[in-house]
Amino acid sequence: MISNFEFSNPVKISFGKGSIARLSALVPEKSSVLIIYGGGSIKKNGIYDQVLEALKGFHISEFSGIEANPHYETCMKAVELVKEKHINFLLAVGGGSVIDATKFIAVSSFFEGDPWNILAKGSSVSKALPLGVVLTLPATGSEMNERAVISRVSTKQKLNFSTPVVFPKFSILDPEVTYSLPLRQVANGVVDSFIHVVEQYLTYPVNAKVQDAFAEGLMKVIHDEGLKVLTNPHDYDIRANLMWAATNALNVWIGQGVPQDWSSHRMGYPLTAQFGLDHAQTLAVLLPGVMTYMFKDKQIKLAQMGEVVFHITEGREEERAHQTIVATEAFFKQMGLKTRLSEYGITSDDLDALTTPIDKLGWKLGEHHNIDSSTAKEIMMLRI
Ligand code: NZQ
Ligand code: ZN
Repeated sequence: MISNFEFSNPVKISFGKGSIARLSALVPEKSSVLIIYGGGSIKKNGIYDQVLEALKGFHISEFSGIEANPHYETCMKAVELVKEKHINFLLAVGGGSVIDATKFIAVSSFFEGDPWNILAKGSSVSKALPLGVVLTLPATGSEMNERAVISRVSTKQKLNFSTPVVFPKFSILDPEVTYSLPLRQVANGVVDSFIHVVEQYLTYPVNAKVQDAFAEGLMKVIHDEGLKVLTNPHDYDIRANLMWAATNALNVWIGQGVPQDWSSHRMGYPLTAQFGLDHAQTLAVLLPGVMTYMFKDKQIKLAQMGEVVFHITEGREEERAHQTIVATEAFFKQMGLKTRLSEYGITSDDLDALTTPIDKLGWKLGEHHNIDSSTAKEIMMLRI
């Protein structure tokens, strides 16, 4: 049975070629805007110039240098600038890292005490600076959701938080800005968004026909267009479909009223924090492990997913479910991602350090809340 739910997603989307020009209408008049961006890719590909052109007449400040897997330490420097310059609107121009950092800066600007507690202790927040987004990398869905993931370098921790006050006021999605992405980031985006759908779909059936049909459609589009973009990187329609699919994969729509997993995501955080793997790289390694270890729990949906996404129709349900796992891993490899921990130099000796954070945080992961640190270690053993 579908669980009761109540939700709203207030993010206004401006989608399409030339939509960065819409900034002048979307940013509230007379705002004092802080533009937040990463390592400078926006200066090479012309996005920065488009943003400045659109914001002529606004009072503008800038904060650059947000890292991939954004650092708490860097965000706190931005908070100082917000206070010093009396900023009242934040504009994230970048991928998930820049958007997540901007969300954290938005809540930290009002938080009393150490904002790290928002992540580490789940301290509640009731207020945030308003923020808008110019998305440059389709992957995380952060442009249309209420969550963020932040890393602390000094303690090698990566943690998430979620609150409706950080839903962006608007997000601008121009598929043309994705042409300049390096192949590695394109592939990361395809795999991450695909797995966002999987985390909300691949559990047990609750007869949620709308959520399942949306999820299956998204997986199919991301799979098919993801393979095509490798050989057609300048095809607008492919880029546009991938961008909109990635947003829909994690805009809290398909997960309403259905059981959700998210164990691959949570187990992946320490892999990034301790070994520096990209977010999607952690998922491509771990998901096949979760699918295999939790096979009995997921068999029905695995077979259903295999039929729609990979056209697996022959054999008994159990066989089709197994074939789906093989096809999923093959898809990640086709996208150029590695699928084994050993390919990153990680051995069984590293697994204790990788799974102790699960204990420390008291996490019981998966749709049945039955993955603790020792189960996580067994899942990771399958992926050496
Ligand atoms: O730093 P810049 O110069 O911006 O370069 C970035 C960065 O090096 C580059 N890039 C972005 N757009 C580009 C571009 N290069 C050329 N042309 C463009 N148009 O790509 C690199 C990676 O960017 P990043 O923002 O780190 O990637 P992604 O969007 O994959 O975000 C990953 C982060 O999001 C978190 C991850 O954990 C990770 O920290 N996630 C956030 C979620 C959320 N808020 O809902 C959910 C996800 O599951 C995920 O955990
Ligand atoms: Zn993700």
